[in-house]
Amino acid sequence: MSVFREDILQGRVAVVTGGATGIGSEIARTLGRHGARVCICSRKSGNLEKAAVDLEADGIECLWLVCDIRLPDQVQHVLDEVLARWGRLDILVNNAAGNFPAPLSRISPKGFKTVVDIDLLGTYNCSKLAFEAWLRDHGGDIVNISAPFEGKGAALQAHVAAAKAGVDSLTRTCAVEWGRHGVRVNGVMPGPIADTEGVERFDAAIGASGGSSVPLGREGARSEIASVVLFLVSEAASYVSGQVFAVDGASTVDQLGMASRLAELEAAWPER
Ligand code: COA
Repeated sequence: MSVFREDILQGRVAVVTGGATGIGSEIARTLGRHGARVCICSRKSGNLEKAAVDLEADGIECLWLVCDIRLPDQVQHVLDEVLARWGRLDILVNNAAGNFPAPLSRISPKGFKTVVDIDLLGTYNCSKLAFEAWLRDHGGDIVNISAPFEGKGAALQAHVAAAKAGVDSLTRTCAVEWGRHGVRVNGVMPGPIADTEGVERFDAAIGASGGSSVPLGREGARSEIASVVLFLVSEAASYVSGQVFAVDGASTVDQLGMASRLAELEAAWPER
């Protein structure tokens, strides 16, 4: 059950990169359930086919295309197909990302470059080409999915943290440069989100659950990221641009990392 009216994106067209699985598939479904026609793209056709069947079963008009966002020609192909099919492009969600947890000493130059190429260069490719293909002349909305590492060191995530800091920077610069074209650009930094490959792999690597240290006391749901993306591309956010929102149950602002110990500390504290 959504708190948003179900037709708020009626007539609009969205591209969600990495839209076949995880957070991306929930974003695609949420935009579609609110009226948008949705193109999902990623590297694996099997995942895309399955996701498209699910979206169509939900009554969502969708298109799926294989695309490696590192390759500008493949991104351009996606945009050409979307414009040929639907004649417009209103929303771009740069969600696709590559990641593996590893200490910096175990990340090869190629491993580091691979993640930066997917996360940062891929976001640049899609944003720039979508701007040239449609957004420059018609306006629209871009949402970049990054990670809540801003201003911090991120052990086992050196490549991702560096790339996502670049994505957040790109969010702000694109918002400034493209604002006069009616393009709003915002970012979302998801905290630990349940049922996602990234969190599962990270938890497996460190032998812990990401939810235990979250001030709200739990991992987030994919739908809790998708609903913030929906807000950002809706008219409700028409004067919001250049902002990057942590959607992480207050993890980012827990500077002292005390959340998981507070109940115990408070109980033992002398009464006043
Ligand atoms: N630890 C260390 N290095 C790793 C690694 C790991 N777990 N996984 C990949 N790499 C390195 C590879 O060894 C290679 O470098 P090398 O040739 O110097 O050894 C480099 O990364 C590229 O790997 P490759 O598999 O050829 O790249 P790819 O283009 O297929 O991309 C990634 C692979 C990086 C995206 C991979 O981590 C992946 O497939 N992840 C799963 C999907 C995913 O990331 N989902 C999103 C979760 S948020």
